Amino acid sequence: MEDLRLDSLEGVGPVTTKKLADAGVHNIMDLIVRGPVEIADLTGMDKETAEKIVNKARQQLIEEGLIARDFESATDIYKRRQDIDKISTGTDCLDLLLDGGLETQALTEVYGEFACGKTQFCHTMCVQVQKPKDEGGLEGGTLYIDTENTFRPERIVTIAKVHGMDPEKVLDNIIVARAYNSAHQILILEESGPVIRENNIKLIIVDSAVGLFRAEYLGRGTLAARQQKLNHFVHLLSRIAETYNCAALATNQVMASPDVFFGDPTRPIGGNVVAHTSTYRIYFKKSGKKRIARMVDSPHHPEQEVIFALTEAGVADPEEDTKKKKTAFKKVEPKKEEISALTEAGVADPEEGTKKKNTASKKVEPEKEDTENKNTE
Ligand SMILES: Nc1ncnc2c1ncn2[C@@H]1O[C@H](COP(=O)(O)OP(=O)(O)O)[C@@H](O)[C@H]1O
Ligand SMILES: [Mg+2]
Repeated sequence: MEDLRLDSLEGVGPVTTKKLADAGVHNIMDLIVRGPVEIADLTGMDKETAEKIVNKARQQLIEEGLIARDFESATDIYKRRQDIDKISTGTDCLDLLLDGGLETQALTEVYGEFACGKTQFCHTMCVQVQKPKDEGGLEGGTLYIDTENTFRPERIVTIAKVHGMDPEKVLDNIIVARAYNSAHQILILEESGPVIRENNIKLIIVDSAVGLFRAEYLGRGTLAARQQKLNHFVHLLSRIAETYNCAALATNQVMASPDVFFGDPTRPIGGNVVAHTSTYRIYFKKSGKKRIARMVDSPHHPEQEVIFALTEAGVADPEEDTKKKKTAFKKVEPKKEEISALTEAGVADPEEGTKKKNTASKKVEPEKEDTENKNTE
């Protein structure tokens, strides 16, 4: 990629190159990721010039076979999709749900209530992506954007050991960026190009993608501004995943929506912005000690759910228990009972707990009651 120098493009001189570099745009690939509007903003060049430059950059990448053409035959798209890599989750159940694992060139969103295992899943995937290809990995590193200060290297060490890997090597292949506010979170991603290239990053994790935006933009009046920023962030993440052939994994908290009677009573925060940009969306749900993962709105996966466990090894298949085994995988037919069961699971962020209790249509049972939850059996 060394020959993708910015100054190899006509109209890009040393001054512009310097301005772009200061903003984290280091080569032609980064130029495409950011797009003409941003490039114009960053450099002060007019929009037409920026469009010309970005178009030339795109043309060059197409010629070098690094990105797809604007018009492609369905056969070409099909062939390209055959090349998409997958990162196995190391479990049969979640691999079944994901049809093999987390996909590169795609954004997978995992949403669910507090302690449903989103962060544990992220930690597990940091280890999985490093495994050799014949073991389901991509022999690549992870860029972990931690917005909640919940990344724990100790967990990585434990998970690596359980998987028979050298913990020190595994830690070395994880680059952690702690984001302190939403603007910083965006900046980290904007400047991630060189880090991705230099460290053979194959997985980008943002845990959580929405938390900081939510904390900073409070109240109805700020909703539009929040969605606009979040939109920018999530689109950037998608474009990076496509451009660098990485898998992107973003987590999202859910907010209880007692007003929803038909359909899912929990809604990911960030609403439509995240939902419409994610390629795949998975809903994690607590069910006593077990966890349930459901594929939601996938363009090509069947709507189904699986049971998984959280263990020392990170996410894991549920224990070999004959009674459970036959129910481990099942197709979902949304039913009224199930919807109310979900409501009863008390899906809420801690601060919304009280509100939730008042408005739930049925009485809320303590979590341990969920062990016998109908829809898991
Ligand atoms: N070392 C471990 N062994 C087994 N389970 C664990 C371990 N660490 C965390 N867990 C489980 O993970 C849960 C927290 O999941 P987490 O991924 O942090 O949730 P969130 O969805 O909020 O990110 C805990 O409640 C516990 O059940
Ligand atoms: Mg978490």
